[in-house]
Order: sequence, then C-alpha cells, then structure tokens
Amino acid sequence: MQPDYRFNYSLDTTQKANKLGQKPLLIWITGLSASGKSTLANELDLLFFNNGYKSVVLDGDTLRKGTNSDLGFAETDRTENIRRTAEISKLFLQSGMIVLAPLISPNKIDREMVKNIVGEEYFFMVFLDIDIKICESRDPKGLYAKARRGEIQDFTGIHQQYEKPIDANLTFKDDFNISDAAMTIFNEYKRLL
Ligand code: ADX
Repeated sequence: MQPDYRFNYSLDTTQKANKLGQKPLLIWITGLSASGKSTLANELDLLFFNNGYKSVVLDGDTLRKGTNSDLGFAETDRTENIRRTAEISKLFLQSGMIVLAPLISPNKIDREMVKNIVGEEYFFMVFLDIDIKICESRDPKGLYAKARRGEIQDFTGIHQQYEKPIDANLTFKDDFNISDAAMTIFNEYKRLL
C-alpha cells in the first residue's frame, strides 16, 4: 500500500460548517434532459441565498464545458463525469457548503457511487420524475429532435435507459411547480439542521 502523505489540516468540516451556520448537504437532482433540473437548482440557489445560506451549483452542462470537457455520453464517460462531480462536491461539503448538483445521472450504480463518495449523511436525492413525452415536447436545446434524427448518439431515454430511483428523498411528478418544489426542499433542509 502507498504511504499516505496527506497533511493533517487543523480545521474540519464541522468547524467550517458551524462558522457558516449551516449543515453541509449535497442536493443531487436527477432526471431526464429537460425535466427541469437546472431550473430547480437555480430556484433553490436563490432561495438559499435570500435566506442567508451559502450554496454552490455544480451543473452537468457547465462542468462538461470545463473540468469534464474530455468526457462524452458513453456509460463509462457518464460514470467518470458523475464521479468527478461527486469528488468536487465533497470538497465543497468539507468547506461547509450546500451543493446543488443537477445531473441526469441515469444509472443507479452511479448515484450509489455519489452517496459513497460524499457519505450518506451528506447526500439528499431529488428525482424529477417527468414523462419523457413532456421533456421531449419542451426540448429547449433541440437535443431530442437531434437524437431522433440520429445526429447525436447515446441520448438518455432514446438510446440509453434512465433507471428511475426508488430511494430518492423527494420525488416530483409531471405537473410539479418549480417554486413549490424548491420551497419543499428548502423546508426539508431546515428540518435536517
Ligand atoms: S450525465 O448523464 O453524465 O449525468 P449530464 O447531466 O452531465 O449527464 O449532462 C447532460 C446534458 O448534456 C443534457 O442536459 C444535455 O444538455 C446534454 N447532452 C448532450 N448529449 C447528450 C446525450 N447523448 N445524452 C444526454 N444528455 C446529452
């Protein structure tokens, strides 16, 4: 086994979180493309901000432009995209932050990996259980249309399956209201404090 050269830093997660006066939590938002994940993350970010909490958004689409720009949508690339996002989340959690992570994360095994990386007590999963027909009718980026025309591959819900979580902390269905959902999650967060 390799020796562990990690420096023993004085401050730990609890001290940092106490300083910020909040509980670090990763709110992992999973669901199909165009299910409303980023919109919900944005609404939550505003809600936390306006109530004096410190949050950060790690959006799949954004990370894929930078840290994860070498990754595509094959299963192994998705796993790596999700693993890196979980590791980055962990660093933020250790700084006392609330992390909002809207990622499709279609596979149960990858979502389990996230929970293992950050630790169960810091993991809160929100599932946007929106029918693919609704997502496809919105199609804000035109990706469903491209996938149907065969112009993009590995598209979730068309070429690859989305494994619905049965263990989400909160699930929102087709006709959910973004503001109400954000408030429900926010209230649930405050219950955990
Ligand atoms: S994940 O599966 O690895 O978690 P992630 O959330 O980071 O996916 O990225 C999904 C976003 O990439 C979608 O919102 C969509 O805008 C875009 N995208 C481009 N190609 C694909 C594809 N083949 N499958 C799914 N999303 C795609």
